[in-house]
Amino acid sequence: MKYNFDSIIDRKNTNSLKWDLFDDDYPMWVADMDFYAAPFIYESVNRKAKHGVYAYSFVNDEIFDSYINWWEKYGLAMKRDELLFATGVMPSITSIIRAFTDVGDNVLIQTPVYHVFFYVIEDNDRNVVENPLIYDSASHDVETAYSIDFDDLEEKFKDPKTKLMLLCNPHNPIGRIWDEKTLEKIAILANKYDVLVVSDEIHCDLTDPNLTYVPFASLDEDLANNSITCISPSKTFNIAGLQSSAVFTRNKELYEILEKQLSVDCFNHPNIFSIDATIAAYKSEDWLNELREVLFENKMIVDEFLKSEIPEIRLVPANATYLLWLDCSKLRGENFENCEFSTSLSEFLRENVSLFLSPGIQFGKNGDNFLRMNIAYPQDLLLEGLNALKTGIEKFKKENNI
Ligand SMILES: Cc1ncc(COP(=O)(O)O)c(C=O)c1O
Repeated sequence: MKYNFDSIIDRKNTNSLKWDLFDDDYPMWVADMDFYAAPFIYESVNRKAKHGVYAYSFVNDEIFDSYINWWEKYGLAMKRDELLFATGVMPSITSIIRAFTDVGDNVLIQTPVYHVFFYVIEDNDRNVVENPLIYDSASHDVETAYSIDFDDLEEKFKDPKTKLMLLCNPHNPIGRIWDEKTLEKIAILANKYDVLVVSDEIHCDLTDPNLTYVPFASLDEDLANNSITCISPSKTFNIAGLQSSAVFTRNKELYEILEKQLSVDCFNHPNIFSIDATIAAYKSEDWLNELREVLFENKMIVDEFLKSEIPEIRLVPANATYLLWLDCSKLRGENFENCEFSTSLSEFLRENVSLFLSPGIQFGKNGDNFLRMNIAYPQDLLLEGLNALKTGIEKFKKENNI
């Protein structure tokens, strides 16, 4: 390996959301990685920091060229005037919801899904409408472990109040790349009922080695015409704290409305580091390729560990993201029939072994048999976390007669 994915980095006392907000020894919840940034990024940020002037900067053409070049490999040809800068994917989604729906409208999400989708819809006084994903607990195949209920989707789209769908592509927390056929079916239905598709593609680069994802916007031009795509180097390169993202749409009308809304919301001003860091990130493909190998190896370690040490927990097959979706339904004994099981289990693990995994209910009611585990750690730390999980689950079983 050319890059360092082994060092255990002390992130305590750095005002880190993951390490300092709470006191857990193994905070395997929030989606950031415990790896150093790629060298080009580190150098670019340090260059700026050393300069000593932290005043205004502007969105230059070079950053858009970086996005354009990077997405070529995904078969998506973007143009400069189809892209806008935004200070994050969630800020973009807030602006999109405000620009293209009214108070009281429905926004559709496919649960279980990234929990902030719920907040951003509700905080803007729109209604969350769920199209729950179908889970097959017996499937060992990523293509069938979770699937979309298209009949239900069509029913929800039929409601004239449903104006917008937030698509998570690849999907957090189930870790699935949506294939082209699935995306096409969504697009056909969305067009039929005039629903705007917003494709959040923040996890798109973090696929298993040798796998790639399908940008929603790479579908046939007519199918993708009523869509907006959110992209960012922040998950891929672990630079969420630098607040840099972009939105892409070929639809001129949508583009102009969104450009104005991002300006009204003041989400279009870059900070001093974000432009250079994004450009540096998209020059770091070899770092990313090593990272993907490391993450895949970590996933295999977790899979084997669970099978041999904690067989009650099942790793849901996944092919993207560094977030694993753990089916804990076998641990849901009588004591937890009528309560938030995943919250109880998550709290038990925190209290007993100082391990923080996200409770699945955070991602929707149908996530309550699950925990989400972040595996973007050096292997030594990952193994410590897994051993803590084993100890915690043994204790949980004993105390609950499971
Ligand atoms: C699907 C998804 N969208 C958006 C975000 C956050 O994006 P940002 O930090 O750019 O607002 C996350 C973070 O985990 C995510 O998983």
